[in-house]
Amino acid sequence: MTRPFTILGIETSCDETAAAVLRLEDGRATLLSDVIRTQLEEHAPYRGVVPEIAARAHAELADAVVAKAMQDAGISYDALDGVAATAGPGLIGGVLVGLMTGKAVAQAAGVPFIPVNHLEGHALSPRLSADCPFPYLLLLVSGGHCQFLEVRGLGDYVRLGSTIDDAVGEAFDKVAKLMGLGFPGGPAVERLARSGNPAAHGFPRPLLNRPGLEMSFAGLKSAVARVAANAETEAQKADVCASFQAAICDVLAEKSARALEGFGTGGAAKRFVVAGGVAANKAIRAALETAAAEHGAQLVAPPLRHCTDNAAMIALAGAERMAAGLAGHEDGLDAGSRPRWPLDEAAALSAPVYGGGHKGAKA
Ligand code: KG4
Ligand code: ZN
Repeated sequence: MTRPFTILGIETSCDETAAAVLRLEDGRATLLSDVIRTQLEEHAPYRGVVPEIAARAHAELADAVVAKAMQDAGISYDALDGVAATAGPGLIGGVLVGLMTGKAVAQAAGVPFIPVNHLEGHALSPRLSADCPFPYLLLLVSGGHCQFLEVRGLGDYVRLGSTIDDAVGEAFDKVAKLMGLGFPGGPAVERLARSGNPAAHGFPRPLLNRPGLEMSFAGLKSAVARVAANAETEAQKADVCASFQAAICDVLAEKSARALEGFGTGGAAKRFVVAGGVAANKAIRAALETAAAEHGAQLVAPPLRHCTDNAAMIALAGAERMAAGLAGHEDGLDAGSRPRWPLDEAAALSAPVYGGGHKGAKA
């Protein structure tokens, strides 16, 4: 039995300004509030997230979003045990806004500040609403990441495989942009794919037959781009979307099957978690469900609201860290922001597979 922790979480790493209050008691999370203010309207004219606009919008919205989360929770700042905010990875201007807001609130309330890795938030997100004990196999699929990780425990992540070029969400967004479907691309492509023929185009399934868990989506994106440029009618666009989504489903299902084969739990139930924005896609969920069932595993996916960016998962990561004694100390205020912050830092440093340059590896 541990004492309960009530944590305010703040998320500003991309284009959602979010704040949530969560109470963690004996390993069970209860959400007291969960505010997400998306910046879709601000970025829509540019058909993609503009980092500078995102940073300004976060700066304008953060105070009100935090105030609303506290008001919805119906508690005073005195009742908080800590404040958690995303410290990376993400668009650095936005991350800075959330980090500084979180530190200011923590100092004013006289409670510890907990810097949180956004990817850890996604990794723990199933635990917001489902009984999902460690260890589990995780497929993290978002706008910036696509990787398999073994989640052994809090803060204990082992990279099993990753994309070597684009993330899946990035590919969805690009395909949507090429056909003028709006932003974000994922939901638009999924909607249109429902009325299309998944066999209309035989798009490549990159690295499908190569052993291991590495993935690649840049070639698929280029192949789709060539066809998409000639898709004019709704029906033609629907066929492109359906065929593209089918290729993604095939690759993710096959790699998941392989990951599940190699994932040992020492006799405990096999859990397979899919998290991140792309996990909101129902066709992908169905493909993973089948792969999981075939390998005696249970697929756990957060509700749609907690697949895409949210602050509930950041509050949960903060609360779990505090409960485990991994955070809640005075040094929280010293935390800096990080544009890149791989979950398995040792693997990313010794064998980077994705991203590089002065910001460092993504995975
Ligand atoms: O996790 P997230 O909200 O932000 C990041 O941390 O990246 O993921 C956003 C990504 C975007 O690329 C978006 O197009 C994609 O998730 N996404 C989807 C769907 N909903 C969001 N992709 C495919 N199908 C969806 N239904
Ligand atoms: Zn995210």
